Amino acid sequence: MEVIILEDADEVSQVAASIVADIINAQPRAVLGLATGSSPRGLYRELCSRVQAGEISFAQASGFALDEYVGLPREHPESYASVIAREIVGPLGFDPHHVHVPDGRAANLAAAAQEYDDAIRAAGGIDVQILGIGTNGHLGFNEPTSSFASRTRIKTLAPQTRKDNARFFDSLEDVPTHCVTQGIGTILDARALVLVAQGDTKAASVADAIEGPVTSFVPASALQLHRHATVVIDVAAASRLQLAAYYRHTYPNKII
Ligand code: GLP
Repeated sequence: MEVIILEDADEVSQVAASIVADIINAQPRAVLGLATGSSPRGLYRELCSRVQAGEISFAQASGFALDEYVGLPREHPESYASVIAREIVGPLGFDPHHVHVPDGRAANLAAAAQEYDDAIRAAGGIDVQILGIGTNGHLGFNEPTSSFASRTRIKTLAPQTRKDNARFFDSLEDVPTHCVTQGIGTILDARALVLVAQGDTKAASVADAIEGPVTSFVPASALQLHRHATVVIDVAAASRLQLAAYYRHTYPNKII
């Protein structure tokens, strides 16, 4: 795992955007895994600036959202289908037909989740999966004790996650109770993982994920099993890492 510690959230966005930009420039038809939430917003904004500057293009790329709430109408402003359309597909210039979001309103949710996982495989797999991390260590909506072998499926949201996400809704009661999320196994199948985190509210889960034991109790610790995982964080999110000085040394002194 490569851990990149940067001074602030802006630098996190720039460095993470460069990782994604390099992949898209090398493979214009790349398949992206798209996280929502507040953590990757700056990364998407930075990619948008580079699209506007003519440095990169997502016109031929495709995308698969990481997760979706169960039960929210697609048109609800906080459904991930809406967020992805508003904050990613439009600004980055994806072909909307090439960006997929799990169906959280399907009559048969389990079957739709399986079809979604199959569609990722049929597309050739994800080239780069963008990730955030929950304060409880979740990845996507894979809550603590999610199996590392799990595939896209229905999950019950943890009380902490509903509390954390209540800021996007009028009240805690309005936060859905269930979701459909790519599984940890699905995420680990991606050829590259890029996790971004900012702020001290993520410091504990970041430290557990990077330096703690590999355990389903901290779903993001599954990154330790991946051959090409990069964690891009600011100093606040890195504040509980024991080997922070080492990571700060390795990044500028990298031999490629
Ligand atoms: C959310 C999302 C995740 C996200 C995480 C952290 O609920 N489902 O994909 O990475 O929790 O969210 P945020 O980036 O808003 O802190």
